[in-house]
Amino acid sequence: MRVESNIRACRNEVRAVRAAGATVGLVPTMGALHDGHVALMRRARERTRYVAVTIFVNPTQFAPGEDFGKYPRNLDADLEVCRAAEVDLVFTPNVAAMYGSGTQTLVHVAALTEGLCGPFRPGHFDGVATVVAKLFHILPADVAFFGEKDYQQLAVIRRMVTDLNISVEIVACPTVREHDGLAMSSRNAYLSPAERRQAGSLSAALFAAVNRVAEGQRGTAEITRGIREAIVAAGPCRIDYIEVVDAQTLARLAAVDRPARICLAVHIGSCRLLDNVAVDAATAGR
Ligand code: PAF
Repeated sequence: MRVESNIRACRNEVRAVRAAGATVGLVPTMGALHDGHVALMRRARERTRYVAVTIFVNPTQFAPGEDFGKYPRNLDADLEVCRAAEVDLVFTPNVAAMYGSGTQTLVHVAALTEGLCGPFRPGHFDGVATVVAKLFHILPADVAFFGEKDYQQLAVIRRMVTDLNISVEIVACPTVREHDGLAMSSRNAYLSPAERRQAGSLSAALFAAVNRVAEGQRGTAEITRGIREAIVAAGPCRIDYIEVVDAQTLARLAAVDRPARICLAVHIGSCRLLDNVAVDAATAGR
C-alpha cells in the first residue's frame, strides 16, 4: 500500500494504473475510519482493480464554530484499516497542498443544498462539492463510493458530477449501523455513554416510521410528528429537522406518494447526528 501526500505523484500513479488497463475505485474520507468506511473500501475492492482512499479533514466544509479543531484524527490507525482492506493507495494531503495557492474557486450546487442541512451549515456543501471535485481531478477514478448515511451529500455529489461532466461513476453504499441501529459516524466518538444509549432512539424512530408507512400511513406531518415524539421521549436533544423528501430532488413532500427519504439531524450533547431511511408507498422501504 502506497501512502502519498503529493498531488502530482498521486495523479501520475492513477493515470499510469488506468493507462495499464486497470479500473480505479476511489473512497474519499476525512479519516477516523470505521466499519462504514470499510464497507465502502470492500465495495471498491469488489468493483475495481485498484483502490485509492483519500484522508483529508477538509477545513472548507466546516462552518465557523463547528468541530474542525476537534475532529478525530488518527492517521496510524486509519492506515492500518486501509491496509487490512487491501487498499492500494492512500492520499493524505495537507491543507497547504490542497488550498495553499490563494484558491478562489468554489463549486456551488444550488437547489439541492437549500433544504435539510443546508440552512444549518452555511457553506458546508460548497466545501464538500469543491473538495470532492478537486479529489476527482487529482485521482481520476472510474468509480467513487459514498455512503447513503450522508444522503444530501450523495445527492449533491451526483448532481455536481452530472453538471460538470466529470467522468466518474458514483456508487451509493447502504448505511452501516451499530447493533442498536445507530448509523456509524466518526462523530459518534463525541457521545458520552449515556448519550450513546440515547442515540439509538434516532434509528429506532425512523424504523418505526418505515413500518407505519408500510401499514398505510402517508401524511408526512403525522410521520414526522411520530418520529419527533419518540426522539424527544428518549432524552434531552435539539432537533434541527425531521423531514420527508423526494428521494431524487430532496423537495419536501406532503405525502409519501413516490420514492422518498425520511431525513433527520438531531443534536445529542455536543454531537450532531444525521440519519435517513428510504420509504416508498409501494414498499416497506428500508
Ligand atoms: O463524507 C465525508 O467524509 C466528506 O464530506 C468527504 C466526502 C470526504 C469530503 O470531504
